[in-house]
Amino acid sequence: MSRPTTSVLFVCLGNICRSPLGEGIFVALAEERGLDGDFHVDSAGTAGYHSGEPPDSRSTAVAAANGVHLTGYARQVTPRDMERFDVIVAMDRSNQRSLQRLRQRYGRGRGGLADIVMMRDYDPDARDADVPDPYYGGHDGFERVYRILERSCRGLLDELAGPGRD
Ligand code: 4NP
Repeated sequence: MSRPTTSVLFVCLGNICRSPLGEGIFVALAEERGLDGDFHVDSAGTAGYHSGEPPDSRSTAVAAANGVHLTGYARQVTPRDMERFDVIVAMDRSNQRSLQRLRQRYGRGRGGLADIVMMRDYDPDARDADVPDPYYGGHDGFERVYRILERSCRGLLDELAGPGRD
């Protein structure tokens, strides 16, 4: 019997730097473990200023250098995402607050809404609660964000799928 699919939405501010990277890394790790069929994965931004744009070229470059292919176009998170996804992963505390407000407004009286979690809660080396926003920095910032997301996505996958199945 096939296992039920878990749907996971990665969310940052613009949906062009951090969340497309999180999405791509998570999918690659799930594929590595032969678990990609167990997950539906997407990403979105709390703001809509980059809607319709592909991922930032610096995110695409750091992903490609690590064998990860980024897909999709930016979109803003919607109230419906609160019931469409099982788990919504916030990149920082500001994203988390925006998501909690959306969930509260939309979710009054409804059950079965997404769990909102923090990406770095799954980073075993976290020294800060937030995945730093690399948008205004240089390539180094994107390298650093990649390492943070790789560790965090491993931790999240362990949590959702169980460790040691790779
Ligand atoms: P992201 O990065 O939230 O990781 O996609 C940003 C992208 C754009 C802006 C800020 C952060 N911006 O201000 O346009």
